[in-house]
Amino acid sequence: MAYDLLKGKKGIIFGALNEDSIAWKVAERAHEEGAQFTLTNAPIALRMGTINALAEKTNSEVIPADATSMDDLKALFEKSQEILGGKIDFVLHSIGMSPNVRKNKHYTDTNYDFMHKTFDISAMSFHRVLQTAYQMDAMNEYGSILGLSYIAAQRTFPDYNDMADAKALLESIARSFGYHYGVKNKVRVNTISQSPTPTTAGTGVKGFNQFLNYADKISPLGNASAEDCANYVLSLFSDFTRMVTMQNLYHDGGFSNTGVSLPIMELMPDEIQ
Ligand SMILES: NC(=O)c1ccc[n+]([C@@H]2O[C@H](COP(=O)([O-])OP(=O)(O)OC[C@H]3O[C@@H](n4cnc5c(N)ncnc54)[C@H](O)[C@@H]3O)[C@@H](O)[C@H]2O)c1
Repeated sequence: MAYDLLKGKKGIIFGALNEDSIAWKVAERAHEEGAQFTLTNAPIALRMGTINALAEKTNSEVIPADATSMDDLKALFEKSQEILGGKIDFVLHSIGMSPNVRKNKHYTDTNYDFMHKTFDISAMSFHRVLQTAYQMDAMNEYGSILGLSYIAAQRTFPDYNDMADAKALLESIARSFGYHYGVKNKVRVNTISQSPTPTTAGTGVKGFNQFLNYADKISPLGNASAEDCANYVLSLFSDFTRMVTMQNLYHDGGFSNTGVSLPIMELMPDEIQ
């Protein structure tokens, strides 16, 4: 069902690689809710992915941008404002990549060049996006900029590797930049901490299916899907959340506040071992 929640709003959506991507679902739902936006991804991802089908479906243009390049980001904000005919109301940063994860480097045997890349792509790029928009004065008042995070920023998940550190940095940037952007232009900056979700980035993490099943059994509501996440994202782009900023918001079916659940208890022996 559509509610015209984002009617008249203009946005930029990073990170739609294929139909499984959280950003893909956000673009589909934002279109249904009346938003206009540009889609962007790294040039290499544009060659590998299927973003053109999404662009056609949502009547949007694709602008290539590597989120670690300030020149690309500046051009992206310039072109987006040209195409959309004015300042931007919402930005989704839905970007994550760790060469250590990809190349199966254990956390205790990290490659520091890879680690730099992880932080640059998965966390510093959020600062770069914010700083580009801030310095270009590209956002409307009460605009909303969102990043996607994971609870490994607060709690240890052994195979999440250096992405855990990247997510901690991402969330910290939302707080730090959120202060300055709020004061200057009343722009909101938040992160959503999402349940494990079967996407290209998600399934790249070792043991992903196991911790997806574990999270589903712990969470009173079960895991939140990519579609649910898209709906939550839209609420944070809408005018109904105008005073929410500098937050890390859990969207995880209750996982983050649950100690243990009955389905997990039932897997344990009923005797002290
Ligand atoms: N899937 C999960 O379990 C899960 C859970 C919590 C948070 N998240 C976060 O959600 C976000 C979206 O990931 P997803 O799960 O939809 O996977 P995805 O693989 O579909 O999306 C990741 C995107 O990052 C893009 N990207 C990588 N390097 C880039 C660069 N240099 N410049 C621009 N874009 C680049 C990729 O092309 C891809 O589109 C990520 O931040 C991820 O960490 C995912």
